Amino acid sequence: MSKEKLIIFDTTLRDGEQSPGAAMTGEEKLRIAKALEVMKVDIIEAGFPASSQGDFEAVQGIARVIKTSTVCALARANDSDIKRAGEALKEAVSSRIHTFIATSPLHMREKLQMEPEDVIKQAVKAVKLAKTFTDDVEFSPEDAGRSELDFLCRIIEATIDAGATTINIPDTVGYNLPEQYGNTIKQLIARIPNSSKAVFSTHCHDDLGLAVANSLAGVINGARQVECSVNGLGERAGNAALEEVVMAVRTRQDLLPCDVDLDATQIMNCSRLVSRITGFAVQPNKAIVGVNAFAHESGIHQDGVLKARETYEIMRAEDVGLSSNRLVLGKLSGRSAFKNRLEALNISIESEQELNKAFRQFKDLADKKSEIFDEDIQSLLSDIKVDDGLEDMFKLVSIRACSETGETPAAKVTLAINHVEQTQASDGGGLVDATFKAIEAMVKSDANLQLYSVSNVTEGTDSLGEVTVRLEKGGRIVNGLGADTDIVKASAKAYVNALNRLMSPSDRVHPQAYKGV
Ligand code: KIV
Ligand code: ZN
Repeated sequence: MSKEKLIIFDTTLRDGEQSPGAAMTGEEKLRIAKALEVMKVDIIEAGFPASSQGDFEAVQGIARVIKTSTVCALARANDSDIKRAGEALKEAVSSRIHTFIATSPLHMREKLQMEPEDVIKQAVKAVKLAKTFTDDVEFSPEDAGRSELDFLCRIIEATIDAGATTINIPDTVGYNLPEQYGNTIKQLIARIPNSSKAVFSTHCHDDLGLAVANSLAGVINGARQVECSVNGLGERAGNAALEEVVMAVRTRQDLLPCDVDLDATQIMNCSRLVSRITGFAVQPNKAIVGVNAFAHESGIHQDGVLKARETYEIMRAEDVGLSSNRLVLGKLSGRSAFKNRLEALNISIESEQELNKAFRQFKDLADKKSEIFDEDIQSLLSDIKVDDGLEDMFKLVSIRACSETGETPAAKVTLAINHVEQTQASDGGGLVDATFKAIEAMVKSDANLQLYSVSNVTEGTDSLGEVTVRLEKGGRIVNGLGADTDIVKASAKAYVNALNRLMSPSDRVHPQAYKGV
């Protein structure tokens, strides 16, 4: 007998985007949505349309393009948020509205300042209104992990009666332990008279490092949807990591009552794409997608793996999309070989103009580096700005950096600022420091540099260096990315990229920080 299906609901573009500094442009969100669709994610939570005009348009753009995954939009339990979500999803082949309201005594008293009975009425009204836009409506009692079970039973029964087809149980602050969370799911399904009319879902945060364990406990106790995000991106410590949930379910079919439909070989692609776009690096020892996840250092382990892989490996690297044969192109490769490789990597290029630009960059790289790997191509492509109709305020025109023993490192940078070129020289503690000082002297952003990190995309000193720069100004945090075989240039690109993001207007509202509804 085939197993029941476990629905994978990805919230990288909504909860993931709520991580400080992870805000994405509409075009970046669309790129990730396409990769999620290729991975066969069942539901893509594309954003929170009421948060800003930009996010409304991002959800609308994703709804227009995505065909095989359901596109979901988040809405607080109020009329204007729900109408905005419905409007953004209008052109989707398959759409879902996810509405929520807080149900813990603490949240109802302090945040909503509402009586519990009014919270139930508000939730029912919201679900009914959402039903006028789509049949597929999800309701979440926010902070369910700290809510009273009797109250949860009442509000869930009422929202299912109002038409909710999915009931999501968020452990919003990552407070629950696996046994406790699993038991909550079990009790809710057993006690709510109409529970069979809805799919129960998990939504666990990782504040205690238990998000995946709690999600699996929920599944063992009857949940048939897991909300998760690529690389575990999300508010504070993040959400349950999609790749960990999926591979745990796949690997432990002997113990789990259901299976996923996902194409797990796309996991590495999605992980790298999300990491590049958000600038959130994946730690080396991260399960499934960390660079060490399938590496064997000690002689004993290597010997065991060579004799029989299963001695120390419970999964195959190929199953998550890590191929050992990564050498793909070189200096003599032509345009069609390059295009074929892009297709094999599921990288979609929208126009001939973009393809030409990407090919030129590939050729430049091949001049500097004899072997071009998949990772190089992915990195190169994330560096190409797709035309999204928005002009960057700053463009890096040229850079000259000098370092000599006994001399102070110095850099001279030319920027185009609103199309007008300016040049500035500066010295510094090192070449990167001098470069950033020269840029700052022209731009005068006054932003605080919160993070500067460099990583190599492949092995060897001729590897592309990927730089992440995180800037903060007035509480707003942005990440900038840059890639180049020369890390000083990569650093300058990343700094300029972060400055452009800082200058772009943001009118975002956070979904969970508000008073009243
Ligand atoms: O963590 C949470 O409670 C949420 C809700 C909006 C579902 O993300
Ligand atoms: Zn959440």
